[in-house]
Amino acid sequence: MHRSFLLCCIAAIIVAVWRTDAGESTANLERNSTLPCGRPQNPPSKGFRIVGGGLAQNNSWPWICALVQEVSRPGQGMTYRQFCDCTLIDKEWVVTAAHCLENLTPAQFKYYVKVYMGVEDLTKAMYNSSKKYSVAQLIKHESFVMKTKHSDIALIKLDRLVEPFDNDTMPACLPTRYVGAGKYEQVGSYERKVCYVGGWGHTREGETTKQGYVGSGTDKLKQTSAEVMAQVDCRKKLPVTDTMFCAGYDQGGRDTCQGDSGGPLVCDDGNGTYVLHGIVSWGPGCARAGSPGVYTNVWQMKEWIEKSTRVNFVNGTDGDFENAADDDVTTGPAGKSTTPPPPPPPL
Ligand SMILES: *[C@@H]1O[C@H](CO)[C@@H](O)[C@H](O)[C@H]1NC(C)=O
Ligand SMILES: *[C@@H]1O[C@H](CO)[C@@H](O)[C@H](O)[C@H]1NC(C)=O
Ligand SMILES: *[C@@H]1O[C@H](CO)[C@@H](O)[C@H](O)[C@H]1NC(C)=O
Ligand SMILES: *[C@@H]1O[C@H](CO)[C@@H](O)[C@H](O)[C@H]1NC(C)=O
Ligand SMILES: *[C@@H]1O[C@H](CO)[C@@H](O)[C@H](O)[C@H]1NC(C)=O
Ligand SMILES: *[C@@H]1O[C@H](CO)[C@@H](O)[C@H](O)[C@H]1NC(C)=O
Repeated sequence: MHRSFLLCCIAAIIVAVWRTDAGESTANLERNSTLPCGRPQNPPSKGFRIVGGGLAQNNSWPWICALVQEVSRPGQGMTYRQFCDCTLIDKEWVVTAAHCLENLTPAQFKYYVKVYMGVEDLTKAMYNSSKKYSVAQLIKHESFVMKTKHSDIALIKLDRLVEPFDNDTMPACLPTRYVGAGKYEQVGSYERKVCYVGGWGHTREGETTKQGYVGSGTDKLKQTSAEVMAQVDCRKKLPVTDTMFCAGYDQGGRDTCQGDSGGPLVCDDGNGTYVLHGIVSWGPGCARAGSPGVYTNVWQMKEWIEKSTRVNFVNGTDGDFENAADDDVTTGPAGKSTTPPPPPPPL
């Protein structure tokens, strides 16, 4: 069965009470932004509380985006295939998992991947160019290790500004403290903070991918709650490194799955302000009892995010992504007129 290059499953979380300053939360230091962030019209916490997750409400994840390969294939015409998720953190930057960049060259990524933003139902963006953004630049964390998923984070600069922000589209805030720090304000089972994960990935382990079109698991955005696990408990179960944390339910049953990689784990800071604490990275299976999902710790990556986005705003350089200079294809109309790279293999 063809799978996207993603991975896995994830799940729950928890979190602490942190204070969020909207201005400080966005990544672009040069802009000294005071952009609004993390204030959804219909908060995920008020969504359907279905065990195992359920459809997200409209306008409850305005920061979530999908990475979709758009490739014309012989006999099939255009194919639209979501393979990872991402999160808007600024007017022109989205964050995802580094492993989502693994199967394509930078040139292929820039030419064939579109970022779908501002929709719950991916089919609503397939034919609407104003919901789609092209990839202008890729920055993969220089310490990323595919085998262990250490430092599993990457930044994507979009080809144009996302504006104005509205109830469909708005960044998530970046954390001002570690998700596991301090007292938990909202307590789930086992005294853990409850957070939320959303995505278009497989909704159960082993689910067959639909032949070729849009969501790898579902066209309509789904969400689930998740509990952040203490690092000490996480280490007992899984080989996590210090750039990761675990979230899930000991009894299993709720999780993210293949195709959700790169997507957001957000937590309410207590005021209805949603903060991006985790990036879906890996996990053993989906929603297996006793197996949490593993997330990249965004708090720990915040300095890297700020540094990377600032360098790019100031210098317009290509960051650390391999061969970035060679493959600096500007996508969009101008990019399309250059010689296309070979299409990526079917997923
Ligand atoms: C949350 O709300 C309380 C009471 O309205 C306020 O004092 C506090 O500053 C708010 N916290 C944030 C992070 O906005
Ligand atoms: C950004 O904010 C800081 C602290 O408020 C201030 O010192 C700095 O001058 C501001 N920078 C710009 C470019 O506005
Ligand atoms: C979202 O909005 C669409 C179109 O208005 C509607 O058909 C759909 O039922 C809504 N979804 C949810 C989960 O409320
Ligand atoms: C396409 O997206 C734009 C911007 O969100 C929206 O205003 C417009 O109604 C959409 N068009 C269609 C046909 O859905
Ligand atoms: C977003 O939703 C809020 C609350 O429902 C509403 O007051 C506001 O006007 C909406 N904003 C936009 C831009 O539609
Ligand atoms: C480019 O960025 C580096 C590192 O931030 C800085 O030292 C350098 O002065 C910048 N160059 C220009 C031309 O802005």
